[in-house]
Amino acid sequence: MNVSRRSLVLGAAGAGAAIAVPTLLPFRADSGAPARLPASKFPKMFTVPFAHAPVAQPIRRDATTDYYRISLEQFTAELLPGIRTSLYGYNGSFPGPTIRANRGRTVVARFENNLPSMHPAWAYESFATIHLHGGGSLPQYDGYASDIIHPGEFKDYVWLNTECGRSAWYHDHAMHHTSLNVYAGLAGRYLVDDPADFALGLPRGEFDVSLQLSDAMFQADGGLYASLKDTKGLWGDVLLVNGRPWPLMKVKRRKYRFRMVNACGSRTFFLRLSTGDPLVVIGSDAGLAPAPIPVPSFRITNGERYDFVVDFAKYPAGTRVELINDSLPYNDDYPTTRKVMAFDVVADEFDPANNDVPRELAPSNPVMTTPTPAKPTIRNFKTIRQGGEWTINGNTWNDVIDSEYGLVEATVLKGSTEIWEFQNNSGGWSHPMHVHGVDARIISRNGKAPYAYENCPKDTFRLGENETIRLQMTFHEPGKYMIHCHNVVHEDHDMMSQYECIDPNGPAADSPFAAAAEPLLDAREL
Ligand code: C2O
Ligand code: CU
Ligand code: CU
Repeated sequence: MNVSRRSLVLGAAGAGAAIAVPTLLPFRADSGAPARLPASKFPKMFTVPFAHAPVAQPIRRDATTDYYRISLEQFTAELLPGIRTSLYGYNGSFPGPTIRANRGRTVVARFENNLPSMHPAWAYESFATIHLHGGGSLPQYDGYASDIIHPGEFKDYVWLNTECGRSAWYHDHAMHHTSLNVYAGLAGRYLVDDPADFALGLPRGEFDVSLQLSDAMFQADGGLYASLKDTKGLWGDVLLVNGRPWPLMKVKRRKYRFRMVNACGSRTFFLRLSTGDPLVVIGSDAGLAPAPIPVPSFRITNGERYDFVVDFAKYPAGTRVELINDSLPYNDDYPTTRKVMAFDVVADEFDPANNDVPRELAPSNPVMTTPTPAKPTIRNFKTIRQGGEWTINGNTWNDVIDSEYGLVEATVLKGSTEIWEFQNNSGGWSHPMHVHGVDARIISRNGKAPYAYENCPKDTFRLGENETIRLQMTFHEPGKYMIHCHNVVHEDHDMMSQYECIDPNGPAADSPFAAAAEPLLDAREL
């Protein structure tokens, strides 16, 4: 049997060890309510300079593959000026280092769990799993929630990057602990460059900017505050962009491409520019849109990405443009969550190349062009609150565990195109629904056209209060893949199930617990 997690201690390879499932119950004990840091200790909005996440450096490249080594560790950072906060992160940075992948080149990444065995404040075992959200991964490299890496173990992930260019992210997905692991800092970007996109003339280099949005609440002692009793959500009163509170970015008088991910546990944003000028959406979770979509505002929920262009050319130097968050129902709002960041326009010279948004972007992506079959299989998924837990069709991840991973909501055929309907009959909740292992297009929202900016290849969808959405998807990758709510507190409690894609004419898919028989990185090069 191939076991995917190996001991970090030399000579103590984990192969042969049983798949240990240490904690079946969702973790949400009360840690007692520590005193919160008052808002008077926050920096003034737009005083902290904007910063990019660091870029991950491969330890080696060969003809086909880039090799990375990434350590999960505890570290402290100054998120708020003058205040030290203890975090969990990848290579000691928050956000984690951005992995820049290239379409057609494989990424092999060793993730080593060097976290303390127990979280020092929240007292759960610091096991982890790594999900590349937005890339089609083989089942064993998809961050299956129960395929966990214990402290002191590592796993080598293989991501093939065969799909079109996209703005993805990687984050923790460990069963029942995802919300706290991600909140503590285990999230970063994974951007796939596609040579087919280069000719479009979209902003590149310094004008191609990743924005990782998150929120946090702080204790008086500087630690992250989490209300561990709340199974509805995890909310911050400080908004962070790439780990900086309400940052100020200087921009030149030209177009910028922003690649935004909402990495908040529970908060959905409803964003617009203070000038009233349009945000030009050019893509979302799973690649570029067929054509640019100028909109006055857009919603972005947990796990979603939007790529959009802002043209600062029309503003005279000295103009300040703010990114405003109008919010939506069922967010915990604070006066400090109404604005995200600001841009100050400067007169500096700039490279005029790649300053375009062409009229067509990716008009022939099959995700967007595949016609709806005449008699499609339509499956219905209900989001149900039951016994204090959130469920999908009444099922939870604990039900999947109890079934020894046999329980599936659907069995689909490789190559088939289906319609999946997600239904939220509650007036009091919204759910960001995410289906792994497949790219989708939204074909209706409450029987009507989706929001204009949703006309993009996607994998995560806001399912608002009393809403029903229909997605069309064509399945390609055999194996078991998770379906869940990306409000990570709902996900942990325990709104996650799975489906299986099968290929009757092909070999059986690998188990989500399988992995290469040998470590993929040679110890000599580490
Ligand atoms: Cu962003 Cu299943 O996760
Ligand atoms: Cu995902
Ligand atoms: Cu939910």
